[in-house]
Amino acid sequence: MFDARRDIRGSNRDKFLKQITMILTYGDRRPSIAPTAFIAAGVQIIGGVEIGDKASVLFNSVLRGDINDVRLGVCSNIQDNSTLHVADEWPCIVGDFVTVGHGVNLHGCRVEDEVVVGMGAIIMNGVVVGYQSIVGAGALIPPDTKIPPRSLVVGVPAKVVRQLPESEAAGNKYWAEKYVKVTRKYLGITP
Ligand SMILES: CC(C)(COP(=O)(O)OP(=O)(O)OC[C@H]1O[C@@H](n2cnc3c(N)ncnc32)[C@H](O)[C@@H]1OP(=O)(O)O)[C@@H](O)C(=O)NCCC(=O)NCCS
Repeated sequence: MFDARRDIRGSNRDKFLKQITMILTYGDRRPSIAPTAFIAAGVQIIGGVEIGDKASVLFNSVLRGDINDVRLGVCSNIQDNSTLHVADEWPCIVGDFVTVGHGVNLHGCRVEDEVVVGMGAIIMNGVVVGYQSIVGAGALIPPDTKIPPRSLVVGVPAKVVRQLPESEAAGNKYWAEKYVKVTRKYLGITP
């Protein structure tokens, strides 16, 4: 069990991760997790899941790469209670500097670099969310929808409501960078 009073700095890190997460192989599919990634308590990582440098997976999320691959890019974060899963013909691919809010379902979709996915969103098979877009909290993006780069998309079913000016879209990267700092602190590392 996680004990918040424990010091998880330095060499205790691996021990800490082992005790509080479930990382499983599935047949010949095995997780590949960058040593600099942060995997929080209660996370379950199964099968062909690749996690990039300084990426983070927050408390109680599930990344299940059993029948296809799950990939999380560098400096991206998956916040608490989110689920990433796949379909036979659809991997689940998350790019670099992506923020995925709390309680999100990403299923067999591709989320390109520097996207923010709002809390509670559901993104279905075959969807592509273009570079630097924002998916509003609670949005549902139906199968095979292609969201152009720098779109703001909200609602159920989700619709593109406007294009983001470059200055606003560039702010997405800020959230991912902030989360790199937040999760480094859990590891006792000052960025
Ligand atoms: C959609 C969002 C980006 C706001 O975009 P915005 O263009 O600044 O929108 P505004 O706040 O000016 O609101 C514009 C309208 O959209 C509505 N709106 C805001 N967020 C919405 C959402 N998630 N879904 C549906 N409608 C939403 C507002 O109520 C407002 O409606 P009105 O015009 O009828 O009054 C923001 O509300 C959001 O959902 N962000 C996600 C944050 C998040 O979950 N981050 C990850 C966790 S840390």
